[in-house]
Amino acid sequence: MNNIEPFIRDINDFPKPGIVFKDLTPLLNNPAATASCLQQLLTLVGDKPVDKVVGMEARGFFFGMLIAQALNAGFVPVRKPGKLPHHTLTETYALEYGTDSLEIHEDAIKPGDRVLIHDDVLATGGTAAAVCKLVERLGGEIVQCNFIMQLDFLDGKARLKGYDVGSVLTY
Ligand code: PRP
Repeated sequence: MNNIEPFIRDINDFPKPGIVFKDLTPLLNNPAATASCLQQLLTLVGDKPVDKVVGMEARGFFFGMLIAQALNAGFVPVRKPGKLPHHTLTETYALEYGTDSLEIHEDAIKPGDRVLIHDDVLATGGTAAAVCKLVERLGGEIVQCNFIMQLDFLDGKARLKGYDVGSVLTY
C-alpha cells in the first residue's frame, strides 16, 4: 500500500447521495504525509523542465503551489468564473447535466512556456481537458498532467489522450 493512502478517507454520500468522496484533509494535516505526497508527485515529473504549474480551484491549489516552489516554477491558478480580477480566458465544458466554466489570467502563460497541470483528482477528465485547452490557447506546451488520485472507473485518461498523465494513487 502507498504510504499516503491511509491519509485519504472515504466520505459516503458527499456531496450527493451515492458518491464516495475522497477526502484529503487528513493528508494536508500531516506534514510527513504531505512531504511524501509532494515527493511522489515530483517523481512523476522527473527531470522534465517546467516553467509554470497550473492548479485548479480549489484542491489543485494545495499541492500545485508546493510543486511549483519545488521546481522553481511559477504557479498559475485556474478558477471558477468571476473570481480572477484581471483579463481572463474562459473555457466552457460539458457536465453530465449542463455545463461548467473555468478561467485563467491571459497573461499568466507566455507562448512556449512548459506547463505542468496539477489537480487532486482525475475523475471524468472534463476539468483537466478544459485546462489543457486554456493553456494551449495561450501558447503553453503541456509537459504533464498529474494528480494525487485517478479514478480509473470514470476513464478520465480517455479525455487526455496525447498528454503524459500521471497519478500517485489509482482507484
Ligand atoms: C473536483 C476535483 C477536480 C475535478 C475532477 O473539483 O477537485 O478538480 O472535480 O473532476 P472531473 O475529472 O470529472 O472534471 P470540484 O469541481 O469538486 O471543485 P472544488 O475542488 O473547488 O471543490
